[in-house]
Amino acid sequence: MPPRTPSQKSYLTAKLLAWYDVHRRVLPWRAPKGKKADPYRVWLSEIMLQQTTVRAVAGYYRKFLQRWPTVRALADASQDDVLAAWAGLGYYARARNLHAAAKVVAHQMSGKFPITAAALRDLPGIGGYTAGAIAAIAYDERQAAMDANAERVIARLYAVQAPLPKAKAELHRLAMALVPARAGDFAQALMDLGSAICTPKRPACANCPLAEECVAHRRSIQEQLPLKAPKLARPLKRGAAFVVTDRTGAVLLVKRPDTGLLASMLEPPQGPWTKDFPSKTAALKQVPFAAEWKKRPGLVRHGFTHFELEIEVYAAKVSKRPKAKGTWMLREKMSEAAIPTVMRKIIEHGLDEGGPLFAH
Ligand code: ADE
Repeated sequence: MPPRTPSQKSYLTAKLLAWYDVHRRVLPWRAPKGKKADPYRVWLSEIMLQQTTVRAVAGYYRKFLQRWPTVRALADASQDDVLAAWAGLGYYARARNLHAAAKVVAHQMSGKFPITAAALRDLPGIGGYTAGAIAAIAYDERQAAMDANAERVIARLYAVQAPLPKAKAELHRLAMALVPARAGDFAQALMDLGSAICTPKRPACANCPLAEECVAHRRSIQEQLPLKAPKLARPLKRGAAFVVTDRTGAVLLVKRPDTGLLASMLEPPQGPWTKDFPSKTAALKQVPFAAEWKKRPGLVRHGFTHFELEIEVYAAKVSKRPKAKGTWMLREKMSEAAIPTVMRKIIEHGLDEGGPLFAH
């Protein structure tokens, strides 16, 4: 039976915490056992971990921390530098909000993070769930922190039948009702249990400290949970992009508008994204300047949250840089620039020479 009474709950959380004390993952943002976590590190990691896996985040986290070891250092950085360091992680609004929040903390709060979930929530980019996660991990406030691993554990423990993402609020409520005094360890224990034992496929129930209480396990339906709502088909958008190199190999890049999708990031010049590709005649009206534009075979595909994108790439070489808006960037500079993954794919597609240009 899942725990109902306070004593059943504390029995369950004690078992989970005992398991965590032995099996906890070593993660770059995690304080050593028994040590207080630095709120700056907790906040930085929780923002990076929104919609992103531990594996994808680790390298970025280390890079940010090395370059900007304190919230004041991050506040003093330029937005371009922060966006460039974030390039490849996706969901770039997070990077802009991160920088905005760093400025608020550094300039209006003497460099000290708020110490409650309610106050953290007022910072840019921190919603209710993230505020709870930070407050639990950094300050042991009795809050839940739900990543996909923790959601799966709770969904199975209580055999929640509602599909994700609709079930999120219910899973959060069920987790909240369990949170013990060691709130930060409890939050991370649920995540680690989901990562190591209560895995999406073939969960290792024989090794699970919560198997006795787990309703899904009792009913042998653990592998079917959590249910997921069918993914809606995403609309398809198409367009043309223009990759031009000069004789040094530098590529022309322009800055996107400072609001909207991929705001303030760099990209090769391109036409609007519409239902269909432009014809060659139409594409040649979108070029940044007249040159010998050649359509490259194939196309670039990229999935955004709300639509799929397909881009045809036109390439040209010029011996002299024509007058055009934007900056010419040498290829070795690009790995450090604010160029999102989709635009890196487009640039690579537009360049003749083989071999990947970018590490990610
Ligand atoms: N996902 C979200 N927050 C996390 C954390 N603190 N540790 C591991 N995975 C997470």
